[in-house]
Amino acid sequence: MIILKNPDQLAKMRSAGHLLHDVLQQVREMICPGITTMDVNRYTDELIRKAGAIPTELGYYDYPASICASIDDEVVHGIPSENVTLMEGSILSVDVTLALDGWQADSAFTAPVGKISEAKQRLIRVTEECFWKGAAAAINGNRIGDIGFAVQSHAEKNGYNAVRDLTGHGIGRKLHESPEGPNYGKPGRGPRLVPGMTICIEPMINSSTADVKVLPDKWTVVEANGNLSAHFEHTICITNGEPIIMTLEKH
Ligand code: MF3
Ligand code: CO
Ligand code: CO
Repeated sequence: MIILKNPDQLAKMRSAGHLLHDVLQQVREMICPGITTMDVNRYTDELIRKAGAIPTELGYYDYPASICASIDDEVVHGIPSENVTLMEGSILSVDVTLALDGWQADSAFTAPVGKISEAKQRLIRVTEECFWKGAAAAINGNRIGDIGFAVQSHAEKNGYNAVRDLTGHGIGRKLHESPEGPNYGKPGRGPRLVPGMTICIEPMINSSTADVKVLPDKWTVVEANGNLSAHFEHTICITNGEPIIMTLEKH
């Protein structure tokens, strides 16, 4: 069942989204060689709690941390650790969710650690572009498959592969609601998009294969060939016109 949100509920989701944007901006600024992914986790957790919100990844299906921190070939769900130090030249994806006043927001970005290669810069750029291609297709009357098609086409046009085993999702009072939002698909297929739908579009883009593997820690998802992967995500709302990107700055 897809739960549509009324204007009051959307306003609350937007507040959660703005807060998550502010948190992620500050987290982005702290990323540098020499700190650990647990440092990033601690800082993010503090920012969220100081703002009166709850980090909702912590304890979600027993997930042990407040952020996902995925480096290089790690696609998503990397578990922060005191033993993982950020190294110059790596790329780091940070994926965070929070609840404010009972409403969830979910957003992720991939950023360079220090100076990175052009290949890595290109993967980050194209993955973010995949998000915006998907968002451009997220309009009243289109279908979920239109979003996936837009994401997949842009990834493949650039020689990359959209991950199929993990998807975007509806969001609201719960972190994961219907519908699923695959990063691949055919135009005109799947649930119809209508105003009041709130969904997360989250391209996970691999450099050498669409396939992924899960590490023995049962969480960390890696590119099956051990090559680079990047991830971007925003929580958005379908309207009568352009979608509202809820996890951007307030304006
Ligand atoms: N933020 C993730 C998503 O985009 C959910 C992570 S669940 C966790 O859907 F348990 F791994 F944190
Ligand atoms: Co997320
Ligand atoms: Co998500």
